[in-house]
Amino acid sequence: MLLFLVLTSSLLAVDGAAIYSKCAKCHGENGKHAAFGKSVRIAGWKVKQTVAVLNIFKNMSKYDKFARVMNRQVSKLSDEEILAVAQYISKLK
Ligand code: HEC
Repeated sequence: MLLFLVLTSSLLAVDGAAIYSKCAKCHGENGKHAAFGKSVRIAGWKVKQTVAVLNIFKNMSKYDKFARVMNRQVSKLSDEEILAVAQYISKLK
């Protein structure tokens, strides 16, 4: 499944950088900023880890105010978009 997504996302050329530009205001250009003083730095996270966490935020139905912020960010992202932004984050240093 993941391999399939990797292939389709490169074929469809979903733009991870464009998606990340919306994340940057909280997580910082380089993914090193603690969003709301709460999140850990996400720069360089492995693709699998980011995809898993974003899907947790996407699918959660109960959340505290911080997780709610992230639920809003990712609820409209497709699997391909989540993968593309995760690939982008994995390359942040
Ligand atoms: C409005 C501010 C805001 C925006 C925009 C935002 N985030 Fe977050 N993000 C947060 C907060 C706050 C947390 C901490 C949530 C928690 O601990 O429950 C977080 C947590 C995370 C985490 C988990 C890190 C941890 O501390 O465990 C990842 C990964 C993440 N965000 C990725 C993204 C991505 C990718 C985007 C863009 C699609 C994005 N965020 C957009 C505020 C934001």
